[in-house]
Amino acid sequence: MRGTPSPTFPFVPARWSAVQARPPPFALPAAIAFKRIMSDRNEHRAFLNRYYGISRHFYDLTRKYFLFGRDVVVRELLAEHWDSLIEVGVGTGRNLRQLHAARPGALLGGLDASDAMLAHVRARAPWAKLQHGFAEDADLVALLGGQRPERVLFSYCLSMVTDPVAALRNTQRALAPGGKVVVVDFSDLGGLPLLLQRGLRRWLATFHVRPLDGALFTEVGATTRYGFGRYYVIAELGAAKERPFVAPDAEHPGASVPVAPGS
Ligand SMILES: C[S@@+](CC[C@H](N)C(=O)[O-])C[C@H]1O[C@@H](n2cnc3c(N)ncnc32)[C@H](O)[C@@H]1O
Repeated sequence: MRGTPSPTFPFVPARWSAVQARPPPFALPAAIAFKRIMSDRNEHRAFLNRYYGISRHFYDLTRKYFLFGRDVVVRELLAEHWDSLIEVGVGTGRNLRQLHAARPGALLGGLDASDAMLAHVRARAPWAKLQHGFAEDADLVALLGGQRPERVLFSYCLSMVTDPVAALRNTQRALAPGGKVVVVDFSDLGGLPLLLQRGLRRWLATFHVRPLDGALFTEVGATTRYGFGRYYVIAELGAAKERPFVAPDAEHPGASVPVAPGS
């Protein structure tokens, strides 16, 4: 029938008013995508709360035996100059507490998708700015009261995040000029014996952990170095590159000319 949009995308209505009277064609897939994201998030949040509800009480004691590279990263961060830092997936606040002890004047923030972990860290790091949220789209500037963080740390969090590329891009956008994202996490385990690799992957999967592939860091343009047997990776990346400002050309209003930096 003319003017009646087909339920499949794309449809071609007979009149413009038919377009205006109905939701845009992308509304249906977008709504479905949004619903799926929200339900994935609710599931992820519920899993994290179940998982950390009890384990947070002995988390710091047990994790030092298999979350390697965290001390290296904390030490390296403390050797650099910065005044503000956010840890995404702050957990019990173990790293944040070490940073605070060494640099008490710094503005420190933490984000976590688990309410159980947040309650835990709130009691242990009252000096930190803490917020519930998902790495993929949390407002990290608002977390620090409108200040862009100079450093953002992901310590064994990215391997649990549903969309690590979105999380890194979101973080890059929030960084202060000259700022840096630092990641320490499980790598592809490629240097370990095959049986050990398989066993480790299976074991990590039970905690919803997916070791990070090198392709992820290539995609976002991060530099990487690896721990023994590629068990862990330390990756670093800077702020998102700003696109050059383009001013309209007065003589050709439809066109535009790039503006040289500094002009
Ligand atoms: C393995 S723990 C690491 C905790 C801490 N960073 C450390 O090094 O001990 C991972 C943390 O990331 C959090 N997390 C998982 N998925 C997340 C997401 N999408 N956004 C924010 N936090 C997330 C978990 O709730 C948990 O606290």
